[in-house]
Amino acid sequence: MPRLASLPASFRLAAACFAALVLGFALLAQANLWYQVSGGTPPSADQVLVRYHGDPDRTRLDDVLDPVAHPDADDAHNMWQFLGGDGWNDPTTQTNRTTILTWVRAGAPESGWQSVAPIFTGMGMCGDCHAAGGPKADLPLTTYAHVFPLAQPGGRYPLGPLLISAHNHLFGFAVLALLLSVGVGFTRAPARLRALLILAASGGAALDIAGWFLTRAWGAPFQFMVMLGGGLFGISSVLMALAILHEAALGGRSSAGSAGAAGDGAA
Ligand code: HEC
Repeated sequence: MPRLASLPASFRLAAACFAALVLGFALLAQANLWYQVSGGTPPSADQVLVRYHGDPDRTRLDDVLDPVAHPDADDAHNMWQFLGGDGWNDPTTQTNRTTILTWVRAGAPESGWQSVAPIFTGMGMCGDCHAAGGPKADLPLTTYAHVFPLAQPGGRYPLGPLLISAHNHLFGFAVLALLLSVGVGFTRAPARLRALLILAASGGAALDIAGWFLTRAWGAPFQFMVMLGGGLFGISSVLMALAILHEAALGGRSSAGSAGAAGDGAA
């Protein structure tokens, strides 16, 4: 088997560029996870669980009326600012929020709709936008039937988008794992280690994606499968990219490797 270090410079350059881009990709994937999914911290097992399985204690109304999750006025999901009060400390804001969330905690009974309807439909409140002719008429809040689903806990990752994401990701993972696995075959990493990295990349990708569906369906403890799979794929990809970069950089300086490789090539 020839080594990358003994191949012509253009091959080594191509492999090195690819490996460098893979490292950039791994970095961005981490940044995206920290920044988007968990707001500046490494994602916890609970966040993975809630992302796919939903939170049994939280409804969409809890979310949009939560000043901790959505503190800023320009946050697209800050709806507590439309509770009729002038800011968070206004008693009207507090009273109306308590009225809605008490009703939600009671299971959003139809018998209680009269007490919350004025907030959902009122002018100067939700009714400004979530009603026919308003900027958010596609999510009307004018009848009990409209609001009831938003007062239900759970909220699993919707199946349609999950299928789209899974099929895109699996294809990307497969191509990346294949290219890195072939590349690492041209390095001086010990054969056992190479086999381990190759299996970890493909196996990790499979565990990760299968874990999404299992977590969505059954919740704990499958979130750990998602984390294990993602971790295996990420770590093995980075190690293979580093091995390829290292081998590509050794060109011309590996007399033993080139001699052996030349022999192999001639055979
Ligand atoms: C100024 C217009 C406006 C007002 C007033 C308003 N909303 Fe909204 N609301 C929006 C828009 C726009 C969105 C879509 C946000 C997005 O996802 O980008 C939205 C989204 C929502 C959602 C869906 C969030 C999700 O989970 O995707 C809920 C629930 C909601 N609003 C509830 C309320 C409630 C309750 C009130 C009154 C307290 C209210 N809204 C007042 C404009 C408004």
